[in-house]
Amino acid sequence: MTKLEINSAEDMQKLGASLAKTAKPHDLLLLNGDLGAGKTTMTQGLGRELGIHRPVKSPTFTIVREYREAKMPLFHMDFYRLENDDLSSIDLEGYLAEPGLVVIEWPQLVMNDLPDEFLQLTITRVDDSWDSTKRVVEFNAHGKRNKEWVKDALAEYNR
Ligand SMILES: Nc1ncnc2c1ncn2[C@@H]1O[C@H](COP(=O)(O)OP(=O)(O)O)[C@@H](O)[C@H]1O
Ligand SMILES: [Mg+2]
Repeated sequence: MTKLEINSAEDMQKLGASLAKTAKPHDLLLLNGDLGAGKTTMTQGLGRELGIHRPVKSPTFTIVREYREAKMPLFHMDFYRLENDDLSSIDLEGYLAEPGLVVIEWPQLVMNDLPDEFLQLTITRVDDSWDSTKRVVEFNAHGKRNKEWVKDALAEYNR
């Protein structure tokens, strides 16, 4: 399992951009980590790299935000506030069938509805102080394509 130490919010956005640069249509990125870990911050870097000019905001209250104007459509989801009965109102399968990039924050509730192959990142705060900008990102790639994605994204990040 690969781990990467990140020292600032800017570097987290850079990691997001590196993942976007090396992403392919139908890629699926799952983001784990506590509130304030940096999941949305990473997605902002990713969105910018895809050419999205409007701000990429947390979809906590909307569950899904679609950015179809991007180089590759971005579907950004956040299931933190999902109630069980909301789940059926979201066409997850439909989004996964589109040639875009699906990014999911708090994917725990939908794991059973996801394909076998995805890239899962876990972001952890490693310092106790509340204002520390240090994070560790753990990469968990399922399947050949996702292992390749991690390799390419890290090469891009370290360039
Ligand atoms: N290294 C870092 N990576 C990501 N965010 C960081 C980092 N250091 C500080 N931050 C700050 O922490 C907050 C993370 O918030 P957010 O990305 O919304 O988290 P999440 O989506 O995981 O709840 C932002 O205010 C961001 O500026
Ligand atoms: Mg968030």
